[in-house]
Amino acid sequence: VSTTHIRFKVYRSSGKQKKYDVYELKAESGMTVLDALLKIKEEQDGTLGVRYSCRWSVCGSCGMLINKIPRLACRTMVSEVENETVLRIEGWGPIAKPVFRKAKGEILLEPLPNLPVVKDLIVDWRPFFEKLKKVEPWLVGGEVQPDKERLMNNERSLELGVYANCILCAVCYGSCPVVERDREYLGPAALSQAWRFFNDPRHIEKKKILDLVDSQQGIWGCDGVYNCTEVCPKSVKPTQAIMALRRNAFKYKLMRR
Ligand code: FES
Repeated sequence: VSTTHIRFKVYRSSGKQKKYDVYELKAESGMTVLDALLKIKEEQDGTLGVRYSCRWSVCGSCGMLINKIPRLACRTMVSEVENETVLRIEGWGPIAKPVFRKAKGEILLEPLPNLPVVKDLIVDWRPFFEKLKKVEPWLVGGEVQPDKERLMNNERSLELGVYANCILCAVCYGSCPVVERDREYLGPAALSQAWRFFNDPRHIEKKKILDLVDSQQGIWGCDGVYNCTEVCPKSVKPTQAIMALRRNAFKYKLMRR
């Protein structure tokens, strides 16, 4: 097993105190960022706060900023990120510029943005889940139960599957510039779940979904920068969902005239 020495620069916060601590670790090949953090916790500093559960990209607990990009720690290999140097590009075309650089062999770890920090890399998810609840993301199939199962064509079922894959890790929420400037904005995950149910042929309360998202804090607030689609570890496409909801909201308004 090959090993290399990596520096982990980790954001620490407890109460008002904020700082970065640096830990050195011999990272083994095949090690994820979460494995490394747990090793640091076990061998060097038991006070380090990190949240995780499944270690397999299913529970969505371990979202954090890794080299300034929101990602799941259990899905990110140390070898993928140890030598990243230009971490983010700001702007487009000729005015695009790198906004952050770091040394090779170092990994920068910080909590997910746009949510209050509880301790170190652990954030308080409550605002994220409160917004999810606002779009009522559950199936309303009507009072009358059909005699047979409700069949759906394969194409629609695959389409819905893209959004049903969401593991509610809030990585998209942490990448969203609109949430950053407007804490009332529903955010990419909630809006993509709204689309998931709107687009479900079994769901009968479509108009209600549109009413819940038809605002500046909903579908009309999105900047369309596709950060959420880019960072989603499950290839959900929130920006595309928001644009689809916009088209339907617009169509609905035209029909009412
Ligand atoms: S620990 Fe469950 S998604 Fe990372």
